[in-house]
Amino acid sequence: MTMDILQQNKKSWDKVAHHFNGIDALPSYGPFSQTEEELRLFEEITNKKVLDIGCGSGHSLLYMADKGASELWGVDLFEKQMETAKETLKVLPSHLYCAAMEEDIGLPKLYFDTVYSIYAIGWTTDLASTFKLIYSYLKPGGEFIFSWDHPLYAYMQSQNGQISLTGSYQEEGLTTYPRFKGEEAPVVIPNRKRSTYINELIKAGFTIGCVIESEVSKNFEMVEAEISDRYYSLYKARKFPTTMIIKAKRM
Ligand SMILES: C[S@@+](CC[C@H](N)C(=O)[O-])C[C@H]1O[C@@H](n2cnc3c(N)ncnc32)[C@H](O)[C@@H]1O
Repeated sequence: MTMDILQQNKKSWDKVAHHFNGIDALPSYGPFSQTEEELRLFEEITNKKVLDIGCGSGHSLLYMADKGASELWGVDLFEKQMETAKETLKVLPSHLYCAAMEEDIGLPKLYFDTVYSIYAIGWTTDLASTFKLIYSYLKPGGEFIFSWDHPLYAYMQSQNGQISLTGSYQEEGLTTYPRFKGEEAPVVIPNRKRSTYINELIKAGFTIGCVIESEVSKNFEMVEAEISDRYYSLYKARKFPTTMIIKAKRM
């Protein structure tokens, strides 16, 4: 079942990957959300070993390189994304692996100062294993920061600008979306409550540093928000956070 979902999602990412070249990458934490420049969640990056989970086009790793990271590591399910990441990072030495984040592919344990994931963690078919693996990669004192859709966001439907709750936030499980990024590319995305993310972090051994329900970035302060029923819109983001960001530590 898990393999079927991973295979299906992998096939669909093939069709939509071009939409994600440099999108949802640091310093951005997600659509319209506050940026790393505004939130300053990462500790000093200079000379730190960093691992990006769902590294996509590699732009967040490039940001880490600019901040002075000593080692750049990334994992992503999709080969094409890996190729793009290699192009993005060009001559910078990096360790990039095409693999599912929920698989133990033998990445070094007790090794990384920082593990992070920008808009990718929610794709995992096994949140508990993924968090346990991430915990195992970190040195004591290491930090884990991730961003993902605010778990309630998918239920906030906009119709003629009126926002209402649709579906059931109570029911965790899998949703199949027949289209992704406007393309015929069916994807299966697990729905999880905010408490599930927090509790699974705690079960994996993490100490929670902070949970952020992002405000709209200052970059949009002067932008007028037209009424829009798009899934992500500035109009909707001004009323409800698009993005949840969690910072946790391995003590
Ligand atoms: C929105 S993109 C992330 C962008 C990326 N963080 C960046 O900095 O450019 C989501 C990424 O998650 C990857 N992904 C989806 N499911 C995955 C899984 N189970 N394991 C690893 N990566 C996965 C996709 O291939 C895609 O590149």
